[in-house]
Amino acid sequence: MIIVNGQDGARHEFDAKKGQALMWQLRPLKAGVVGLCNGNAACGTCHVYVAPEWADRLEAPDEYEEEMLAEMSNRQKFSRLSCQIEYQPDLDGLELTVAPRR
Ligand code: FES
Repeated sequence: MIIVNGQDGARHEFDAKKGQALMWQLRPLKAGVVGLCNGNAACGTCHVYVAPEWADRLEAPDEYEEEMLAEMSNRQKFSRLSCQIEYQPDLDGLELTVAPRR
């Protein structure tokens, strides 16, 4: 299960699909994740803030994600691109907040 706080403040909970990047699973929620570049770490429209207690449990961003995040004016300490986070069962309970529009 994943917990997602949308841009409008609404809270969503859903059972994520193993092996699929979160962006694809967040987009249908209409909670603010757009995914314009279809998961290529090139648009930033899948930007989320990971709950602090989860930040160390995710793999670190690769150089492409890091470059994109570096361009984001609303970057925070636990910012991630949800297209670069593949859901695995060890992420059960993960909580995210969709970043506001830039
Ligand atoms: Fe474009 Fe994630 S979908 S950066």
